Formats: sequence, C-alpha cells, structure tokens
Amino acid sequence: MHRIQQLAAEVLGQVESGRTLTEALAQAQRQSADLTAQERAALQDICYGSLRQLARLRFWLRRLVPKALPDAQLERVLQVAFYQLVYTRAADYAVVNEAVKLAERLARGKFKALVNGVLRNFLRQREEMLRLAQKDLEAATNHPRWWVKAIQQAYPQEWSSILEWNNSHPPMTLRVNVLKSTVAAYLAQLEALGMGATALDDASGILLDKPVNVRELPGFADGVVSVQDWGAQQAARLLDLHAGQRVLDACAAPGGKTCHMLEMADVEMTALDIDPQRLQRVAENLQRGGLHANLHAADAGQAADWWDGKPFDRILADVPCSASGVVRRHPDIKWLRRPGDFATLAAQQAQMVDTLWGLLAPGGKMLYATCSIFPEENQQQLAAFLARHADAECLNQQQLLPCERHDGFYYALLAKH
Ligand SMILES: C[S@@+](CC[C@H](N)C(=O)[O-])C[C@H]1O[C@@H](n2cnc3c(N)ncnc32)[C@H](O)[C@@H]1O
Repeated sequence: MHRIQQLAAEVLGQVESGRTLTEALAQAQRQSADLTAQERAALQDICYGSLRQLARLRFWLRRLVPKALPDAQLERVLQVAFYQLVYTRAADYAVVNEAVKLAERLARGKFKALVNGVLRNFLRQREEMLRLAQKDLEAATNHPRWWVKAIQQAYPQEWSSILEWNNSHPPMTLRVNVLKSTVAAYLAQLEALGMGATALDDASGILLDKPVNVRELPGFADGVVSVQDWGAQQAARLLDLHAGQRVLDACAAPGGKTCHMLEMADVEMTALDIDPQRLQRVAENLQRGGLHANLHAADAGQAADWWDGKPFDRILADVPCSASGVVRRHPDIKWLRRPGDFATLAAQQAQMVDTLWGLLAPGGKMLYATCSIFPEENQQQLAAFLARHADAECLNQQQLLPCERHDGFYYALLAKH
C-alpha cells in the first residue's frame, strides 16, 4: 500500500506546484504501468478525495505538527494517511504501518517516529479532530477562505449548499444521440442490463444511479450515447439550430457540445480550439458519432488566421473560465485558482466575445457560455458586453448552480440586430 500512498503524495505535491490533477494523475499512472486495476482505482480515489478534503487534512496537520516539517513530502504522506483513516475503509493499523514505512525512505528515516506518533495521536483524538475541523471556516467547507467569501457574497442564500455540492461525488450523466435512439429506448436498454438510471428530460438527458466505465454503456462506441453533464446539454438546445445554418463552435474541445449541435440539426459546423491535442479529441468524438465538422487548431480571438469571411448564423462561445461550476469533477480547481485570476480571465473572455461578435450575421445568435458560477465571468461580463454593443440583445440568461442533477453553468443567448 505504501506505493499508492507515495504516488498519491507525489500527485498532491504536483498539484501544489500548479499542475492540474488530471495531468498529475495521468503522469503517475503512466510511470507505474504495473499497477493493478484495483490499485489504479485506489490511487485515483485517494487523489480526488484528498483534494476534496484538503483544507481539513491541512488543518489536522497544523494541529498535530505545529511546525512545518523540513520535507514537504512528509507532510503530504501524513495528509494522505489522514484521508485514508477518515474517509476510506482501509484498516487503521495498515495505513499507519505503511505510512511509517514510507517515512523511513524519506529524509533518511529521521521522521519515522514522528509519523508514527502523529498518526497514533490522530487516531486517539479522531472524534475531537473531526469536531474541531467543523469550527474552522476553511476546514469545515473544504474551500479557500477567499472562495467561501466570494460565494457567500454572490449567493447569500445558497452558498453553503453550493460548497457542499462542490465536495460531493459528481453524477454520471448521459446524452442520448437523437439521431440513433431516444431517452425511453435507451433507458429500457440500461434496465435490461441491470443498470439503474433516471430520465432527466424527454430530449436527451439520463442520470445513471452509479458511474460506470463507458465501455459498459450499450452503443457507446457507435455514438448512441455520450457522457455529458445535463447543464452542458442546455447549450445546443438554447441555440435554436436549424438545418443548413453556418455554425461556429469557437472553443470546441473535447467536442461534447459540437457533437450535440450536430445531432440536433444538420448544420455546417466549424469547430476551433487553440490546443491541437485537445482538438484531436473533437475529431475522435465526431468520428464515434459519424458526424462531420471543419476543424481548425486556431485562436478564436484571431479571426484573420482562420476565418473565410462568411458570417455565421450561430456561434457558441464556450469560453475558457475559472471552472468554478465543476469543482466536484475537478477538486484541484479550488486550490489552483487565485483571486486575481478573474480579472485576467474576464479580460480574455471579453476580447474573445468581441471578436466573435464581428463574425455573426445580422439576425444571428451567439451563446456565451461558461462553467463558472462567479458573477465576474457571467452576469458582469454580459452587462459590459451589452454596454459595448448597441446591436446586441440578450434573449435569455441562466445561471445554473451545482446540484444533484447538474454542474454549475452560465448561459447568455445574444441576438444581433
Ligand atoms: C470550456 S472548454 C470547451 C468545452 C467544449 N465546448 C465542450 O463542450 O466539450 C474551453 C476550451 O477553449 C479552448 N481555448 C482556450 N483559449 C482559446 C482560444 N483563444 N481560441 C480557441 N480555443 C481556446 C481550450 O483549449 C478549451 O478546450
């Protein structure tokens, strides 16, 4: 087990130095190809779980080891062990023994006794430690203080439930491809296989009782269904698509919304993404669904590089954002972001939508979309956009907050006069 603890501690260290959890975990798994499927699942669970609970783990560390340890890796070993002791079914003695073994290999074994002592101390006071964590704002909410304050200010009523949903395990939601099946028919297929699921609507959304590997989903390889949060499924629906329209998906990767739009209407699709590797994911998703789009690896804000000069009837601007609405899927986000990020992101978003507005035909519609719940990126961005563009009208604005059915998303549908 200490191998898993060691890898998890390394992943936490990578995230602390600014890498995303997805990247750090993928690298750890590549470098330890000999792990069994069960060990890989345990590693993933510990990494995601530790980042969900990180403020609490850090709080316990500070209570029990008031002075910083000379080796940051030792601190992470202790954090991972706290996580296992409180949130997993691993036996207490095994967690402690393995953490001590790991400590033996770090800092020339100097802190073996300390790790042993801290973990035994923690076990003796477990209930008290849990109680104390409830009294500390960061530890109780498992979010940075500034984030809690920002959410409290924006959502005086809902802030605590938003933070709780952020700490929960995300649901797995499917989008049925209406070209190939229906919600009712697909639900029946799942039921026949003993997979519990609920329809979220009649159009395309199905919530699975339990997440599964996509390979277990009937018809997945042929594009009968895709994995997509219900909140994300609202984008294509809002865009009022009709056959023959010229449509631009300006920030398309990995292509969930590109494919959904093509499933809904036979449109002429151009899909851009600045990241060529991520654009490859769009190509794969299109291929799986038997769909077609013109793909360009390009900067949506630099139209001269890729635009043929013909205006679009519909534009989806699913802009890069803080991703504060999808924290439960990416628990590293709340630790990676800094308060100053919003000004930079908002400036980038404004520049991009201004450029894209120039590519929209009069009478056309553009959907501004983020997976954020911070007003700076959403309502405030919309207000500033409308003030800059006299020919723009907002037809519909929605702020979805994370809940049992969907993640947090923001949409503003704009019409051009
Ligand atoms: C929110 S994600 C898009 C999700 C996608 N629409 C979907 O539903 O699957 C934002 C994407 O914008 C891309 N991006 C960032 N800056 C960009 C730019 N200047 N031009 C085009 N794409 C950009 C990122 O690479 C990322 O893939």
